[in-house]
Amino acid sequence: MTPGRRLSAFAAAAALALCAGVRQGERMYTTGAGLYATLAGSQDRLTDDAARCINCHGKDGQGLAEAGLRGSDIRPKTLGARVRRRGGPPSRYDAAGFCAALRTGIDPAGVVLGRGMPRYQIPASGCRSLWDYLLELQRGADSSSAGGW
Ligand code: HEC
Repeated sequence: MTPGRRLSAFAAAAALALCAGVRQGERMYTTGAGLYATLAGSQDRLTDDAARCINCHGKDGQGLAEAGLRGSDIRPKTLGARVRRRGGPPSRYDAAGFCAALRTGIDPAGVVLGRGMPRYQIPASGCRSLWDYLLELQRGADSSSAGGW
């Protein structure tokens, strides 16, 4: 195998792995399957139906009013903007900050998220899949194309 071929085989394998991650992220986001969530201050596990992100953040991540609580806009371009949130100092999310917020309910500025946002016991790979799925949604919305996944 020439170095070039090896590289493209590697790129293809990486693309496949990313694709599988995006699909897993989509499943968690839209169905809640595989998510372990509790409400802040409670030990009771939420059902998959209650835990799925789409309930409160909408199918495009722009946020949705659910039971009077507004799930924020969690599109990566919004989370990536350096702004003040919930009265904290300016901060921006990256993939690691996103994961920390899901697990601990604490945002990158150190401010605790409202109780409307569940807390998730999720491995780093699960966070990454959700983040990659949100990036993919955003790419699809930006280019208005179906994607190719
Ligand atoms: C039951 C409703 C609900 C569900 C389900 C839910 N969220 Fe949230 N989420 C919220 C609310 C409400 C907030 C706003 C909290 C605040 O501003 O204090 C929020 C905030 C967030 C934030 C912080 C955004 C910011 O502006 O700082 C992230 C990131 C987030 N949610 C991601 C997710 C992901 C990913 C899932 C699925 C794994 C999910 N949420 C499921 C209600 C929900």
